[in-house]
Amino acid sequence: MLGLKSKTPEKWAKIAIQDLEIFLTDHAYNEIKAAQSAMAVINHRPNHTKFVNTMSALAIEEMQHFEMVYDIIKKFGLQLGQESQNAYAMQLRKFFPKTKNIEERFIQKLMLSSLMEARSCERFSVLIPVLENEYPELAQFYRDLFESEARHYRVFLEYARIFGGKEKTDAIWDKLLTYEADLINRLGQKPLVHG
Ligand SMILES: [Fe+2]
Ligand SMILES: [Fe+2]
Repeated sequence: MLGLKSKTPEKWAKIAIQDLEIFLTDHAYNEIKAAQSAMAVINHRPNHTKFVNTMSALAIEEMQHFEMVYDIIKKFGLQLGQESQNAYAMQLRKFFPKTKNIEERFIQKLMLSSLMEARSCERFSVLIPVLENEYPELAQFYRDLFESEARHYRVFLEYARIFGGKEKTDAIWDKLLTYEADLINRLGQKPLVHG
């Protein structure tokens, strides 16, 4: 469904739930970053009403997710910590050679956002069964979130195809998925959404 080329082992989910404060903090900041990414691409197609509306709505939705995660942090008696570096996102960006071409960078941003949404979803799906017994409320929260993040994955990829051309985008996307699978296989040791 998400088209990813590798699966996160259950071991990662066990690591994640061992330090919920760090995990939920990381998740909360990921929602903020997702909102920022959606806002940042509006500038590339300011005359495309549907795109502007979609990205604006998506940014708002991500901030609602942030509030939901923040509420959970409080409910669990935990603290929102400080943002940590997202090594995954940094490495993922390195897939694309540096370019000054604004249009190319735009399509790259759409593809990177799509992929990060897809991987978040996949990670949530691995987390849910592990949370089920001890934290059923949290399991339900991630089940609800899965749907909307899966939609975001499709939206970003669809716009990459629309603006970047389907054939060209799909060819790059396939290589990006292979690169990402190798990257994620080397991670999975930290209580972070993409760690
Ligand atoms: Fe989100
Ligand atoms: Fe999202």
